[in-house]
Amino acid sequence: MDCCRDVPVSKGKSVPQASISVGEEPLGAISPRLYGHFAEHLGRCCYGGIWAGDSAASKGAAAVDGPRTDVVAALRELPVPLLRWPGGCYADHYHWRNGIGAPESRPTTLNTSCGQLEPDTNGIGTHEFMALAERLGAEPYLAVNVGTGSIQEACEWLEYVNVGADSSLTRLRATNGHPEPWGVRLWGIGNETWDCGGRYDAAAYAHEYRRYATMLRHIDPNVELVAVGMEDEPLPESMLDRDWNVRFLEALGPNVGLMDHLSIHRYWIRGGAETGFDEEDYYTLLTEAESTESLIQRTAARLAHFAPAGHRARVALDEYGVWHPEARNWGPGDVPRRTPVTFEQSNTLRDALAVAIAFEGFHRQCAVLSMANLAQVVNVLQSVIVTDGASCVKTPTYHAFALHRPHIGADAIEVDVASAALPAGGRAVSATASRKEAGTAVTIVNRDFRNAADVEIHCPGNVDWSLVLTADTADAVNSAQSPDRVSPRALELHRTAAGASCGTIPAHSMATIQYSQRAL
Ligand code: AHR
Repeated sequence: MDCCRDVPVSKGKSVPQASISVGEEPLGAISPRLYGHFAEHLGRCCYGGIWAGDSAASKGAAAVDGPRTDVVAALRELPVPLLRWPGGCYADHYHWRNGIGAPESRPTTLNTSCGQLEPDTNGIGTHEFMALAERLGAEPYLAVNVGTGSIQEACEWLEYVNVGADSSLTRLRATNGHPEPWGVRLWGIGNETWDCGGRYDAAAYAHEYRRYATMLRHIDPNVELVAVGMEDEPLPESMLDRDWNVRFLEALGPNVGLMDHLSIHRYWIRGGAETGFDEEDYYTLLTEAESTESLIQRTAARLAHFAPAGHRARVALDEYGVWHPEARNWGPGDVPRRTPVTFEQSNTLRDALAVAIAFEGFHRQCAVLSMANLAQVVNVLQSVIVTDGASCVKTPTYHAFALHRPHIGADAIEVDVASAALPAGGRAVSATASRKEAGTAVTIVNRDFRNAADVEIHCPGNVDWSLVLTADTADAVNSAQSPDRVSPRALELHRTAAGASCGTIPAHSMATIQYSQRAL
């Protein structure tokens, strides 16, 4: 049955239609690093989230002496190819020596990240984090302390983590249970140094960056160093320098080769209430997510302008995601704020669609984007997992990531989409595609708030499987009582005489179709 062409648009029911043609042209490899995550010592992300800890909130959880087994199992399945730690703003108060040695001898320090004033037992330190990364199969990405730290402290951490040669520090690592160096490649030099990381101006940070980068590379020349850049659209009332990236790159001058990645952060904050939002807010959030691509492009263009011949620094979107007004005390949002701020928020199907739309841009920009880390992995902001006591719930965003699993490490390929327009402007249906030896995967988003979309997909191969992520309302959430309200289910597809696959993607939904490479 030619299900798309047979559906008349004129029967009184408005049915957007879309035709998706998967091309041949490769756009580049989708690095696993584009599917990264972020774990900060913030709220219940690490303590009481990933790690059961001893907090009342996680009593009864599936815990072992360390990370929760249920959280680890869910994250391994996702997977988590890259994990950034320990911050965030936390990184610029973090002193790594507090987090090694016998846990009972570690000091309790004050965690001041993002305005919280919480005790930190330092029970999660370098060894605990590295063991977690290993269990998850995640590449670790560490951030050194610029705000309250020193170059000496950063060099010693790098020596402790990466160096194989004999020294007092490397012997100490062995005494603490890890004789072999871990060989962490990705190191960030501070975090948001234009704000919580020390309110530097761009030139002063460039000066500091040159020293950190030079001295760190003496310890390990193989590290990839991430410099702090800035989103060029700060809030209008903000005092931040929207030309930070240009000023920083100008000040680095001929030393730009000391930088492998320029980090930017992008939070989507204009979507109104976390749940119960109206149609306008729904589209505003999705449009914000879509605009992440142009931020990446602008940042990449700046980098290209300043890069010396032969040097290729790329854009690291090392924090991104939805940050609803209920979970912050700054920025737009005419809704009651939750106090105290716990950084926890509802995670709806709309949020999952926002991330799927961002992935389309990440794939298109895979030649210039080197990593992307969702903020944050458990409990905090747009997390993929929410824990509460013994329960461990996969959020709609978890399922959006899972539906993109086939794209990880694949080659992005061009895809042409002809789609009805939305009343709010823009296209109703968008898509991304990638190819691996095993076949081609196509992920489709129907952004229409109200109407289903009949889609016709032109892609060689047989359909291996097709899944849709949908729910009755765009603000549907998963909870301990209803953990699977938003979860993937089979998508029915039909084949046309011409060999296209056709199906109906419900309103505010996304789907992935996996084609085998077999000839028809
Ligand atoms: O993810 C929460 C915070 O947002 C991070 O600590 C900081 O880098 C950003 O401002």
